[in-house]
Amino acid sequence: MTTQDVGVRTVDATADALFTAALWGDQEADPYEDFRRLRERAPVLLTRHGTLVLSRYADAHAMFRDPAVGRGDEAFASLRGKLPDHQVEEVEQFWRSSLMFSNPPAHTRVRRVFNRSFTPQHVARLRGPIGADVEHALDRLEERRTSDFMEDVARSLPVDLVARLLGVPPADRAGFQPLVRDLVSLLEPGVDAEGAERGLHAQRHLSGYFTELLAHKRAHPADDLLSRLATDGEGCSDTELAANSVLLFVAAFETTSNLLGQGVNALVTHPEEQARLRRDPGLVPHAVEEFLRFDPPTVVASRSALRFCTIAGVDLAPGQLVIAMIGGANRDPDRYDDPDRLDVGRRQGPGLTFTSGAHMCLGAHLTRLQAGEFFARLIGRFPHIEYADSPLRYPSRLLRGFHRLPITVHARRTARRTPAPASTGFPRVL
Ligand code: HEM
Repeated sequence: MTTQDVGVRTVDATADALFTAALWGDQEADPYEDFRRLRERAPVLLTRHGTLVLSRYADAHAMFRDPAVGRGDEAFASLRGKLPDHQVEEVEQFWRSSLMFSNPPAHTRVRRVFNRSFTPQHVARLRGPIGADVEHALDRLEERRTSDFMEDVARSLPVDLVARLLGVPPADRAGFQPLVRDLVSLLEPGVDAEGAERGLHAQRHLSGYFTELLAHKRAHPADDLLSRLATDGEGCSDTELAANSVLLFVAAFETTSNLLGQGVNALVTHPEEQARLRRDPGLVPHAVEEFLRFDPPTVVASRSALRFCTIAGVDLAPGQLVIAMIGGANRDPDRYDDPDRLDVGRRQGPGLTFTSGAHMCLGAHLTRLQAGEFFARLIGRFPHIEYADSPLRYPSRLLRGFHRLPITVHARRTARRTPAPASTGFPRVL
């Protein structure tokens, strides 16, 4: 097969410019237009820097499942010059012990241990506590009527959930949010020297905290994930357990907050879909899948070639970077009918927001459960939700989310609390 047959574009300045625009273009503009242009002009693009960019669902999906690609060192390379070398090594050593930045065989061994606690059956045990947390959050919305959804609800629910899952004492949770935010910035490509220093401080603080907490759980086990890992981590070192505990916060925090925000925004801007979901709450699991597809919190995911290999018809050398444009793949017309339309009843399988293959998001089932409980109770409780003022997005295309989302909820006059939804079980679509 020739590169022409598979739509590969090489040495194409226009396509390179479209790629740059898709990632770094006007932060105010709708990025999906840029993702579409790139997918149409160059679905498989080899940039002049040698990065392979995939915008079609099928190519990205196959790439994620290919063992010839894995984690490279690009996240740490961008820290060089911003931190002294020995500190870059400290950051790299820590994150290489985590699932996110390791490769087989270490990744396979540690992932097996963590997978056991994140199966649909296992996370279903959290449905009760999740429902109670959601009801408290909705009480706050109802009392205030008009509030900033991000500040009052979306930022706290995911942190509370991961803290509960791991067994972090409630009194310790308050200080986590700013530290986690600093740590997330440490791994973003555009981090500056000051941000990198703050991120390293957060990393040291959180890793020290979890090392101590693991020792405490080993001596006094309770019914939580950290206790299970501390007493039966099956060959995981303490560094691996601590690094992955920190990772769970980093991975769960902004992503889930942004999913809740993006979902509420989708309902507010599509009142007919909001009404449809209220009429038929059985659609909630499909609506959650659609929010994840339509406007995902993360619009790209990367891999590096681990050896000489061919991906989407392009020959790669070890270390060559591959970027999957999730935002483009999720709206690929070869995969989804009418892909730019929000359809809360869509039944066409999940997008690539959690990716696929060995590194697929560990928290996917938990996220679906939490978001399902949240949206079922939200629409069950409030007959109408609308903007109270203009929303404000973060100036980033890579991590999509709202800084501020002012909404007004209209409450029913009758009972305050919604009965627990009959079933918000996520569809078995994976
Ligand atoms: C809307 C919410 C979420 C989104 C959009 C999301 C998205 C992602 C993405 C894109 C990756 C990288 C996958 C790759 O590179 O192939 C990832 C990995 C990961 N996520 Fe999530 N995530 C979410 C929620 C969560 C939650 C709630 C948790 C945990 C409680 C979590 C834990 C993880 C972990 C541990 C990894 C690393 C897995 C590995 O490399 O083996 N995520 N997630």
